[in-house]
Amino acid sequence: MSADVKARAGLEDIVATSSRICFLDGDRGVLAYCGYDIHDLARHATFEETCFLLWHGRLPSRAELGDLHSQLAAARPLPEAILRLMKMLPPSDGMDALRTLTSALAHYDADASADTPAAAYRKAVRLTGQIASLVATWGRMQQGGSPIAPDPVLGHAANFLYMLFGTRPHATATRAMDIALTLHADHELNASTFAARVAAATLTDIHSAVVAGIGTLKGPLHGGANAEVMKMLIEIGEDAPADRIDAFIKGKLARKEKISGFGHRVYHTEDPRATHLRQMSKQLGQQAGNLRWFQMSERIEALVRAEKGLYANVDFYSASMYYTMGIAIDLYTPIFAVSRISGWTAHVLEQLANNRLIRPRADYTGPAYPQTWLPVEQR
Ligand SMILES: CC(C)(COP(=O)(O)OP(=O)(O)OC[C@H]1O[C@@H](n2cnc3c(N)ncnc32)[C@H](O)[C@@H]1OP(=O)(O)O)[C@@H](O)C(=O)NCCC(=O)NCCS
Repeated sequence: MSADVKARAGLEDIVATSSRICFLDGDRGVLAYCGYDIHDLARHATFEETCFLLWHGRLPSRAELGDLHSQLAAARPLPEAILRLMKMLPPSDGMDALRTLTSALAHYDADASADTPAAAYRKAVRLTGQIASLVATWGRMQQGGSPIAPDPVLGHAANFLYMLFGTRPHATATRAMDIALTLHADHELNASTFAARVAAATLTDIHSAVVAGIGTLKGPLHGGANAEVMKMLIEIGEDAPADRIDAFIKGKLARKEKISGFGHRVYHTEDPRATHLRQMSKQLGQQAGNLRWFQMSERIEALVRAEKGLYANVDFYSASMYYTMGIAIDLYTPIFAVSRISGWTAHVLEQLANNRLIRPRADYTGPAYPQTWLPVEQR
């Protein structure tokens, strides 16, 4: 593939829309939501504040934040029919289950057929509350547990961990989850957000646009990479000596295989989200008394940087961080969706506020026109 054709195939550097939501500077490693630097948000914001920021373009007042807490708490209990459907699904990939169940939620949404901006906003909030409950409940049931009712007193991150593990989470775990949700919330026109905007631009319903986002996030080149990272670390082995780690990575690179969790279409320097996830992976490892996964990740990061000049992306350290928190690997990409639902819906609302059908063109490279039609007996 020529460089030109390759760039075009990936819509590389193509500006496909205008947006007030997310600012990215890949050369300087800057990510900001509505003007707020991701480092400030990671240090100070809760996920709820981040959601409000993405949806409204400004930070909430205390009263507005209180309202959002109540709205999310009201959204979290899942319809009985959804719990029954969840039980009926065969053991399957967490993203497949999330895709099916999110689609099913549309049938029980009070605003299913309403398409006013107010109804669209209510659905954005409701889906954000519900998707967290879906993922936590699915994860719990996959481990043989029974669903746990949400606790309306808890914030979004704490409630997610509570519904997943059945115990009140430790403050460090809650903060780590809150930061992870904030870091993953939006990322401009990433593949799943673009898919959601393209769907929304046809004036389909929000659930359909979100399902398009979920299906797109699932791929290993996108959100699916975090699970692939952890599978790779386990394949290398928790007790693997340094030379075995190096040989594994060098072998993959020599075979021209991709190392999940590295590289990015936009960043040509450190992904600012990786900075925080690296710290949290270390902090949680220290707290758990097991730094092996963090240390192995650090070694791989240095090696891939030295050998290929590639930086770790958002998916690399989130893997060891979630693993250290005791979260099943199958939930890593669904947890990405628990966060990214805020960005998807923010972009869908923005798209709907100033909509035009998204319909690009293709450079035709097929057989010359016109071909002569031959009856089937003569072909
Ligand atoms: C993110 C990603 C899809 C970006 O893709 P892209 O912009 O199309 O970049 P390309 O796949 O064309 O990669 C450019 C070059 O870097 C190499 N490269 C990119 N990511 C790599 C990785 N993770 N491991 C090894 N090599 C990689 C490619 O092989 C290619 O090398 P070449 O020019 O010699 O063929 C890509 O970096 C990737 O597949 N990463 C692994 C999956 C991942 O972590 N995804 C999550 C992203 S947040």
